[in-house]
Amino acid sequence: MKYLLLICLAILISCDSKIQEKTDQKEAVVIQRDSSYYREKHRQQFHFSPERNWMNDPNGMVFYNNEYHLFYQYYPESTVWGPMHWGHAVSKDMISWEHLPIAIYPDDNGYIFSGSAVVDWNNSSGFGTSESPPLVAVFTYHKEEKAENQNQVTQTQGLAYSNDSGRTWEVFGENPVLMKEGEPDFRDPKVIWHEPTNKWVMALAVKDHIEFYGSTNLKEWNFLSEFGKEEGMHGAVWECPDLFPLPVENSDKSNWVLIVSIGTGGDRGSATQYFVGDFDGTKFKNSHYPERHIWIDHGWDNYAGVTWSDIPKNDGRRIFLGWMSNWLYAQVVPTETWRNAMTIPRSMVLFETVEGLRVRSYPVEESKLLRKKSSVLNRTLINIETDWSRFLDKGNHRLDMELMVTKVVNSSSWEIELSNELDEVFSFGFEFESNRYFTDRTSSGDTSFHAEFAKRHWAPRLSKEDAMPLRVLIDNSSIEFFGDVGEVVMTDIFFPSEPYSKMKFKAPEEVLVTAEIYHLKSIWE
Ligand code: FRU
Repeated sequence: MKYLLLICLAILISCDSKIQEKTDQKEAVVIQRDSSYYREKHRQQFHFSPERNWMNDPNGMVFYNNEYHLFYQYYPESTVWGPMHWGHAVSKDMISWEHLPIAIYPDDNGYIFSGSAVVDWNNSSGFGTSESPPLVAVFTYHKEEKAENQNQVTQTQGLAYSNDSGRTWEVFGENPVLMKEGEPDFRDPKVIWHEPTNKWVMALAVKDHIEFYGSTNLKEWNFLSEFGKEEGMHGAVWECPDLFPLPVENSDKSNWVLIVSIGTGGDRGSATQYFVGDFDGTKFKNSHYPERHIWIDHGWDNYAGVTWSDIPKNDGRRIFLGWMSNWLYAQVVPTETWRNAMTIPRSMVLFETVEGLRVRSYPVEESKLLRKKSSVLNRTLINIETDWSRFLDKGNHRLDMELMVTKVVNSSSWEIELSNELDEVFSFGFEFESNRYFTDRTSSGDTSFHAEFAKRHWAPRLSKEDAMPLRVLIDNSSIEFFGDVGEVVMTDIFFPSEPYSKMKFKAPEEVLVTAEIYHLKSIWE
């Protein structure tokens, strides 16, 4: 009998410690760093991706105490979308990342959808103290079980706060703080401090338009105005807005930019458009052609991007990060333990064109920290084709290229072609007659997972100069092409069966080329 009791006790203790173990695991998933760490096929080596499982939108990006915080839509149980959490990572330079435990878990109010975070410097929310301001996250609660009934509230806005530099998060006891009956698509709050009117402003995506709300304490919100039912690109639900003032380069002016992502249904799956105009604290006015839409990126793999909050004034940059995928195929891309990565962070500024103001985006200066060995090609006239395989890093195709390609009398087109022994080819370049840049992943490797994947993508060039200054970042499964110093951007992913081991520069007629080509470090080593 005594033994029986002891055995029962032992079983109870072991069960209890299992429960404890499980709870601890919920707090922090510790992943062993061995030689296979971040070495899976297609795994990005200098773009942020979660250690494992599913990721979509970047969320709550905020700079505080010398750290860049990145939260992200995360499903820790699977490599496909599921009940959303906010995953979390921090960085000193936006390039190398330290993974932190999940910041916000789903609760009785629903899954934790996209949103933003701010430093509440004056402790307007009362969640911290004025000596030690809290970080406040504003996100959407999504109730999946009600989503089929269009008349029920399914999306509301909630708050969470942190008083320890984002290491732990407390969900506000009086959530939700903003709801609207009968509006199933009511999400992705982006909150900013609007200095001139001394209040917080929230931009919220509501089906086919953006609504603006105002608050003095982040807890009570009142409706200000709406924008967009008749403007820009529609055809799918609007998501993930961002609103910020942006300087016009070479001037002392600035204008407001409103970013709006559009779910699957545009002409390229999911994509992100922007509007340039004015915001007076209540209303956003589009000062450009309302019937037009302008893409932030002409590739197919930059979605739900927004910008960092609270970048110090003496830095002054407006820094954007996007999700490097597309809802068309994000859940079926051929990666195994992890799914999807973020773009490289990009600095943004406005520039003048004959058609009005446009956004220029360019990799942040910190991206140069990745560079290791470089090769230089001095002004060379290229016709037909030249083998550039010597510029590749053996065993991978990760590169940062700065190129100047200049038109000469006969130029008709040029392209850079990456390929492997299996004859899988990815290329990008320019066509002079149609005045368009392109990327081509038609035969880039595994394209079988979605009918729309194997395609050539085009982007009209804006500049009229003969010389094209270009920057190209190539990771294991992506290209980011910045034409004319970021006037035209194309971001695309690809999945070669083995790394590209050959590179060619092709120009059927002639072009003049200067190049600096860098091999790149991995941020996970
Ligand atoms: C955009 C989006 C958001 C939503 C989140 C859900 O990709 O659909 O609108 O908050 O993803 O994961």
